[in-house]
Amino acid sequence: MTKIKRIGVLTSGGDAPGMNAAIRAVTRKAIYHGLEVYGIRHGYEGMINGWMKQLKSHSVSNIIQRGGTILKTARCKEFMTIAGRKKAHEQLVANEIDAVVVIGGDGSFQGARKMSEEFDIPFVGIPGTIDNDLYGTDYTIGYDTALNTVVGAVDKIRDTASSHNRLFFVEVMGRDAGFLALRSGVACGAEAVLIPEVKTSVNQLKSYLEEGFKRKKSSIIIIVAEGEKEGGAYEIANKVKKDFNEYDVKVTVLGHIQRGGSPSAFDRVTASKLGVAAVDAILDDQKSIMVGIVNNKIVHVPFNKTLKNVKKIDGRLIEISDILSI
Ligand code: ADP
Ligand code: F6P
Repeated sequence: MTKIKRIGVLTSGGDAPGMNAAIRAVTRKAIYHGLEVYGIRHGYEGMINGWMKQLKSHSVSNIIQRGGTILKTARCKEFMTIAGRKKAHEQLVANEIDAVVVIGGDGSFQGARKMSEEFDIPFVGIPGTIDNDLYGTDYTIGYDTALNTVVGAVDKIRDTASSHNRLFFVEVMGRDAGFLALRSGVACGAEAVLIPEVKTSVNQLKSYLEEGFKRKKSSIIIIVAEGEKEGGAYEIANKVKKDFNEYDVKVTVLGHIQRGGSPSAFDRVTASKLGVAAVDAILDDQKSIMVGIVNNKIVHVPFNKTLKNVKKIDGRLIEISDILSI
């Protein structure tokens, strides 16, 4: 039987649609088991400054459908220092918080892992990032919604691109990873997808484009992940442009539109499952783990493992993308 009576919950790093559904699930599941829940505002910054207050069941009413995070999020430099984490620990003790659920990405889990080791406080992580770049889980909260946002936007770009015989470079988010770019590329029938995991050769891209022109494709869409090593969409477009005068080359950077919006049904359900699993893990006295979903089953992945390993991009999907874009 656990001694934990009160838990804290926070969102940290980049926000992602579905974080609210996770906050709701954590809160209600904890209350269901007789625990008290404190919402910590503005991520680790709020933990350091004591910005926390109790969440009741009604505090999380009517949020499952909302994008963003009602707890707000932040990137906090002070938490990167041991002095900052000491202050955060003092606030947890002052507020009698026995364990913390962190909803965020790998940076947030790095911080959680450190604090958990230094001050012996249980942390359980819920993967929340549109980038889907966390090892140990098939899906992160927000990825599916962002994917659908990208697909909707690129479909619109395709309409205008094919009306004008234009070549578009569309930049999607993914600082270090190409999951969003690759999957959206397949879903939109993009002619090429450029991702950080696969080395891009501009010359290869040019000869590929020449083939497309020979076959008189009425539009060409190249999806570029923002973390692509040859540069962003503008840079790559400039390198390619000079050789393709016959086509009007345009660039669209989708930007933060990808992080907002009402979460998809898939993200709401995933967030609900993971929120419930996180509280189960705490009741089971687990610490320093991320709850994830693999093959539709809940898994516990030690922070050390998720942080040390790099999630692999699906090689088969790269092949499919190449084959279907001939
Ligand atoms: P994400 O969680 O989406 O990857 P960040 O990388 O911005 O987002 O991390 C969120 C926050 O987690 C940072 O602002 C910082 O407070 C904390 N954090 C990140 N990396 C570390 C680290 N190595 N040590 C301690 N805290 C960290
Ligand atoms: O949430 C992850 C992410 O969307 C990355 O793909 C992107 O590089 C980054 O966040 C940008 O976040 P911000 O503008 O908040 O720094």
